[in-house]
Amino acid sequence: MDIRRIENKYFMKVYERSNLIVKKAKNQFLWDENGKKYLDFFSGISVCNVGHCNELVVKAAKKQMSKFIHISNLYYGSSQIKLGEELIKRTFKKGKVFFSNSGAEANECAIKLARKWGFLNPSKTGNNRYEIICFNGSFHGRTLATMSATGQKKFHKYLEPLQEKFVFAEFNNINSVEKLISDITVAVMIEPVQGEGGIFPVDKVFLKSLRKLCNDNNIILIFDEIQCGVGRTGKFYAFENYGVEPDIITLAKSLANGLPLGATIANEKYAQAFIYGDHGSTFGGNPVSCAAAFEVLKIINHKFLSNSLEVAKYLHIKLNELKKKYSIIKCIRGIGLMVGIDLMINGKDVVTRCIDRGLIINCTNDTVLRLLPPLIITKCDVDYAIKILEESLKC
Ligand SMILES: Cc1ncc(COP(=O)(O)O)c(C=O)c1O
Repeated sequence: MDIRRIENKYFMKVYERSNLIVKKAKNQFLWDENGKKYLDFFSGISVCNVGHCNELVVKAAKKQMSKFIHISNLYYGSSQIKLGEELIKRTFKKGKVFFSNSGAEANECAIKLARKWGFLNPSKTGNNRYEIICFNGSFHGRTLATMSATGQKKFHKYLEPLQEKFVFAEFNNINSVEKLISDITVAVMIEPVQGEGGIFPVDKVFLKSLRKLCNDNNIILIFDEIQCGVGRTGKFYAFENYGVEPDIITLAKSLANGLPLGATIANEKYAQAFIYGDHGSTFGGNPVSCAAAFEVLKIINHKFLSNSLEVAKYLHIKLNELKKKYSIIKCIRGIGLMVGIDLMINGKDVVTRCIDRGLIINCTNDTVLRLLPPLIITKCDVDYAIKILEESLKC
C-alpha cells in the first residue's frame, strides 16, 4: 500500500508530514516500516509523557474497554468519577472539573465559564464582563474561539472575522497587561511556558504580579497547561515551579497518554457559575480515556518526577555545551523536559536530518528546535540525542 500517495490524494493538506511511516511505538522509541528504530524526543507533541504503549496505561484502557467504551455523560461511570476526584485533589483545595476531548475544547470550556462568571459578576459600573486578555506568541487551539485567543497572526490568516473580545498583551510585561484592563475584562489567559510560540517560560516576577493584578481587579487567571502540564516541567503542573496558583487550569495532550481527553479544572468560586445545560460533550471524559488517565496520575508520582528532572538537568547541561561549540545556536530555553533550541537559521532541515539519523524532534516558530521527550528517557538517551543533534547541526 502506497501510504504517501493515498494520503496525498484523499487528505486535506493541513499537515506537513515528514516521510516517516510509523509501524510500532514502545516507551521512548518508534520503529518505521523497514524496522529502523528511532529515539522519540517529541512524544507526539508532548502526549506520550509516560512512554508509548505504557504497560499500565494499556492494561487499564483494555480493562475498561472490555466493560464499556461509552455510556454518555447522562449516566455515571466510575473511571471518569475516580479520575475527577484524583485530579481535583492534585489541583485545588476546592474545585470542580469538566472533561472534554482535546486541548481546544478544554480552553473553550474555560472561556465559556469565564464569560458566564463575568455575566453573573458585572463590573462596579454594572457592565457585563466578557473580554479576555491573552498574550502575543500564545497558542490556545484551532477552534474559532481558541484560534481567536491565540496571539499569532499566522493562525488567523484568511479566517477572519475572528471571535471578538480577545485582546493581546506583551508576554512577561505587566504594564502591557495593566493597560488592557477595562470595565469589561473578565479573565487573563496564559501558558506558563509558551509552547507553539517557541518555548518561552513565563518570568516568575511577572507571574506573581499578574496574580496580584487579577486579585486586585476581580479578574480570573486561567493557565493553559495543555502542553506544559502533567509532569513536563518536572512538577505535575508547570505553575508549581512559580508558586503562583491559577483560578482555572486547562489540561489535555498527555493527560491520557495518547487517548483523547481534555480537562478544565476551576476553583469552586468560578466552577459554580455553570449550571445544568450550560456546557456538555458527547465524548468528553470517555471512560477508556479516563481509565488511562487515572493510571497516568498514579505513575507521575514524586519519584517519577525527580528522575525525569535529573535527566532534564543533564539534557540542559549537554545542550549548553553544544551551544558553546556551535554559533548557529542562539539560545537554549525551557524548563524540565520542555526545551527549545533557538537557531540563527530555519530549523526545518535540521529536523529532517535528525529524523533521517534516527532522532525525532520538531521545529516550531521557524527557528526553534523543540524537544519534548517522554519523561522516562535516560541519560544514555540524552547522549544519543546530543550526538545526532550535533551531526545534524554540522550538515
Ligand atoms: C498550549 C496549548 N493549548 C491548546 C492546544 C490545543 O490542543 P488540541 O490540539 O488538543 O486541541 C495546544 C496544542 O498544541 C497547546 O499547545
